Amino acid sequence: MKILSIESSCDETSAAIVEKQAKSINVLSNVTATSLATHAKTGGIIPENAAREQVKYIIPVITRALNESRSMNHESWKEARTILQNDIDAIAVTYGPGLIGSLLVGVETAKTLSFAFQKPLIPVNHLLAHLFANFIDQKIVFPFIGLIVSGGHTDLLYFKSESEFKWLGGTRDDAAGEALDKIGRLLGLNYPAGAEIERRAKLGEKTKIRFHAPLIGEDTFDFSFSGLKSEAMRFVQNKKLTNKNVNEVCFAVQKAVIDVLTKKTLKAAEKYKCSTILLGGGVAANQTVREKLKQEAERIEIFAPEKIYCTDNGAMIGAYALMNPNLQEWKTVSANPELYFT
Ligand code: KG4
Ligand code: ZN
Repeated sequence: MKILSIESSCDETSAAIVEKQAKSINVLSNVTATSLATHAKTGGIIPENAAREQVKYIIPVITRALNESRSMNHESWKEARTILQNDIDAIAVTYGPGLIGSLLVGVETAKTLSFAFQKPLIPVNHLLAHLFANFIDQKIVFPFIGLIVSGGHTDLLYFKSESEFKWLGGTRDDAAGEALDKIGRLLGLNYPAGAEIERRAKLGEKTKIRFHAPLIGEDTFDFSFSGLKSEAMRFVQNKKLTNKNVNEVCFAVQKAVIDVLTKKTLKAAEKYKCSTILLGGGVAANQTVREKLKQEAERIEIFAPEKIYCTDNGAMIGAYALMNPNLQEWKTVSANPELYFT
């Protein structure tokens, strides 16, 4: 089965062509346009701006993804439509959660193509897709514990099979990535700040500054990161920060986030007797969290997607759709910005 998959839930517009090979997913093309530069100027995402950018990119991105799947590196719709007609069995699209304006662009485009080309549609939950990005070029066995850590979400799940899972806990306030981005802003770093905080943390690792790892001692799988933001704010208030101070604060903040993510994820693996952990979402691109989990986990295999498949991308939507091919008619699919785990 070969799928055209579309992602447009936030600030990335992405499309991919993916197919299933034995037990893993093969990506034939994955094209992403990002409106991050626009959002960096405003220090965060303004939904209206994100939706307008989605409208600009969606058609060129889909056209390019179709052409690149046959190694044709141009933007001709004439070639792309032939590929869509002849090669593609179904169209997958993110239907939630996300920003309504952004989601609508991808969903309505997918519905139009589904209707015009008579291809079934597969609606995909963006959050679950972040975890299933791990099936790209990797062999994953069930059961596993999944940790989704992105700019909007922090959730722990137990997966028994492709479609049977249990939500164990999540953040009560800010997501891990959101906290990093907000603290980054306090420190004068560009949005989104996660990768820059990781880079600076390596330079500040000798510091004695420590922040509280929120809820680390609590016997639940819940997270909370807004207190960390307040603690960092109190610490930097009325201080003239040098470059060295900023690096040290980055280290302390990253350590607090990673300590709590590691502790709760390993506790979940122990409780549910899983020897596999999958990380997903933008924060899973963080090499330090991957290494810490690997160091602390005995007899547990830790998987994280390749970096380009950690942040929002079309290939992960296709990966989920191939593992759970829930084919639907275009009329029955609609965007759901509040979608969670159902
Ligand atoms: O999954 P994603 O692309 O978008 C959402 O669905 O939210 O995640 C974006 C988040 C941002 O908060 C960004 O700061 C964070 O991922 N991020 C990182 C790293 N790279 C991106 N956080 C920590 N370390 C990184 N290397
Ligand atoms: Zn995401």
